[in-house]
Amino acid sequence: MRIRKKIIVCCLAFAASGNVVFAQAKAIIRIDPAKEGARISPTLHGIFFEEISHAGEGGLYAELIQNRGFEDSRLPQGTTLQNGNIVPERTPHFMLMPEQASDWTMPWTVRSPWPAWTSRTTGQSTLSLSLTADHPLNEATPHSLEVKVSGKDTGKAELINEGFWGMNAIAGDEYNLSFYVRNPGTYQGALTASLQSKDGKVLAAHVFPALRKGEWTKYTCILHADQSDPAAQFVFSFGGKGTLWFDIVSLFPQKTFKSRPNGLRADLAQYIADLKPAFIRWPGGCYVEGINIQSAPDWKRTLGPIETRPGTFSPWGYWSSDGFGYHEYLQYCEDIGAAALYVFNVGVSCEFRSGTFIQDDSLAPVIQNALDAIEYAIGPVSSKWGKLRAKNGHAAPFPLKYVEVGNEQHGPRYAQRYNRFYEAIRKKYPAIRIIASMGIADVNRNTLKDMQQLDLVDEHAYKGVNWSFTHNDHFDNYKRGNWDMYVGEYATNGGVGTGNMAATLSDAVYMMAMERNSDLVKMSSYAPLLVNVNDVSWPVNLINFDAGHSFARISYYAIKLFNENRPDVNLATTVQVLPPAEKTNQFSGGIGLGTWDTQSEYKDIQVEKNGKILYKSDFGNRGSDWQPIRGDWKKGDSSIRQTAAGAQLLVVLKDSVFDTYTLTLKARKTDGYNAFIIPFAIKDSNNYLRAHIGSYVNSHCVFESVSGGYEVSDLTDQRPLNQPIVKDRWYSIRLEVQADKVACYLDEKLLMEYKEPDKVFAISGRDEKTGDLLIKMVNATGADCNTTLQIAGNPLIDKEALLTTLAAGGEKSENSFEHPTATVPANSLVHNASNEFQLNLPPYSVNVLRLKDKR
Ligand code: AHR
Repeated sequence: MRIRKKIIVCCLAFAASGNVVFAQAKAIIRIDPAKEGARISPTLHGIFFEEISHAGEGGLYAELIQNRGFEDSRLPQGTTLQNGNIVPERTPHFMLMPEQASDWTMPWTVRSPWPAWTSRTTGQSTLSLSLTADHPLNEATPHSLEVKVSGKDTGKAELINEGFWGMNAIAGDEYNLSFYVRNPGTYQGALTASLQSKDGKVLAAHVFPALRKGEWTKYTCILHADQSDPAAQFVFSFGGKGTLWFDIVSLFPQKTFKSRPNGLRADLAQYIADLKPAFIRWPGGCYVEGINIQSAPDWKRTLGPIETRPGTFSPWGYWSSDGFGYHEYLQYCEDIGAAALYVFNVGVSCEFRSGTFIQDDSLAPVIQNALDAIEYAIGPVSSKWGKLRAKNGHAAPFPLKYVEVGNEQHGPRYAQRYNRFYEAIRKKYPAIRIIASMGIADVNRNTLKDMQQLDLVDEHAYKGVNWSFTHNDHFDNYKRGNWDMYVGEYATNGGVGTGNMAATLSDAVYMMAMERNSDLVKMSSYAPLLVNVNDVSWPVNLINFDAGHSFARISYYAIKLFNENRPDVNLATTVQVLPPAEKTNQFSGGIGLGTWDTQSEYKDIQVEKNGKILYKSDFGNRGSDWQPIRGDWKKGDSSIRQTAAGAQLLVVLKDSVFDTYTLTLKARKTDGYNAFIIPFAIKDSNNYLRAHIGSYVNSHCVFESVSGGYEVSDLTDQRPLNQPIVKDRWYSIRLEVQADKVACYLDEKLLMEYKEPDKVFAISGRDEKTGDLLIKMVNATGADCNTTLQIAGNPLIDKEALLTTLAAGGEKSENSFEHPTATVPANSLVHNASNEFQLNLPPYSVNVLRLKDKR
């Protein structure tokens, strides 16, 4: 499920681009401390770790060697390779009835039998590599690498591991190396292990003068780096000739988080610790589900010495060594004071992949496996799995407080399964809170109705930019049930590049809605957490890293700020945004025509303002005004017709800039899935808004925003069409574009409207320990917001108040490797606080104000 798309279109700019001048906003925020709202859950902010985009392997897990066990060219269990794709066994899909198999496949990108390893020779030396399954070290690591060194005595023979896009060697630091060698007897001579720069400069080295003859022997040493290089490699240099076999070659910095052996990369683990998360959800996501049921993860395979862990194939396209296993995860939770939230597989693989599953009548061992996992974490040392935990070095129970029954499963069939898990877990572990999954979106009746008992339900919310502004009442409107809500995955990830300030503003408003509704939303976690920028599987992630550097996106700082300033109880808060003297034209820009997996024809296009025609074309006369961007656009005598297949096909009216106007045209669908797309407010050919009539396979209509050419996010809810658009019939379409409002008519009937929301938001609450009033405010406009704060009931407020502001120069601002702290919170003192005072909120800012009660 790679969702990155290459943008290969030209970028036609329109004069209006970047020219919108925002009028200064004015707002009144009224707070009534006497009116308490929902209490705020102390567990509101947690984190979600998934093995995606090398978040763990080559990321949080500090191992520096990639493919240490020479197992990474293995096909995932239960698959075969066909025409470059891995194909799961075609057994039925859990959600396809009756008993249908999915036809899902996935490209197999592994090209070498020993990924990440290469050889280098000079002079007369030769070195040949082969993967062998003979004489395995143990069953968990069935393959090893056979290395034959031959040739004359001159020249070098080297075996190189590239790490995860390099290794971070730091001068003065020490690295623990361990590896297994089998020397059948022919090899004589020394073996040197080193860290080297790509050009061969040695940064650290250790010589093993001779290797014992015979079966597998473990060697260890410490490599002391005397120079730094964030893109170093690991090298074995052969001083002799003959044959050696290698397995489980492992290299760890000694400086792991809390210096734990087999531990975590310190900078990344510290970012997470600094968030002070209430809990850690682990190990996924889709990862929990697997591409098929045979390859799904099993916590039992992640315990014990690293050479006994066979690894798990991540649905995100690579093998995890399971070095960051269940025990290490529980230890990390304890180390940072977070509760553990363990997600287990319910005998069903990912429904977007093969969806294969274990039959209902064979579920007992799967349920037992979940119970065993809980016993491992919290069972007494006298129990089977508690005893193993003690043997693995941790006699005391770990802080496991939650389990989740699968990931993104849903529907009545899952509900039946969930009931069986719930009953077994509740009976044995009454204190564990059990989380039901709800599919990829909102909590849904179809899943809930068959569930007998519920503690928490897990809603997932990946949204487009500004969605939280237009749906600020999302949780307010939720019908409460006999369950609490966990928003297990949320992020603004459409229309925000790789995660800019616009994303943070939307995320902040979303978090404020959760806090305001914390009687319902007790827990939440942003997703995904980590991305190795060398293998990006998801467009927007919280913490970015490569081998030697890392930075947190601005949203990370918003989450941290909100968690650090989490009150105990909400207070009644209203925001009144005062209308500006003159409205800004929010939809200035060009116009265009489009299709999505559809062939359509357009004609009689006209733009009119106050009775004056600004533009008119029947394409026969002014066809050259229109510039095709994507698609096959054929201009006829009186129309323009799109005939190609594909998404986001677009033609634009060149150099057009309109502010407020009425656009009329006629449209006819000739073939395909959807119907008509009318782009407007075009800033350039990759960034615009549009009316989409016949979205969702010709069943709905919606206003959408497009950014980066292909990223589409909904501005309004999808509204069902009374009836689908009929083929080969002309429809008339009218778009009425006003300063901050746009309406779309089909055959003179109003289809949908969109109004730019007021972009100033606030909530407040009381910190009961200190008596402080905490006010969270977002100004998502591009201008200062002159704000009047009114606190009802004449409280005695200290005139000095602490204001923390997270503000960026523009919506597109992002932190980066070069400028990791470009946008981070800044503290300042407000000197005029009282029960009515003025405060300026800078453009594009998230603010927390702490008012002290003088008494
Ligand atoms: O966070 C990325 C993916 O999004 C998760 O694996 C899955 O649960 C969700 O669909």
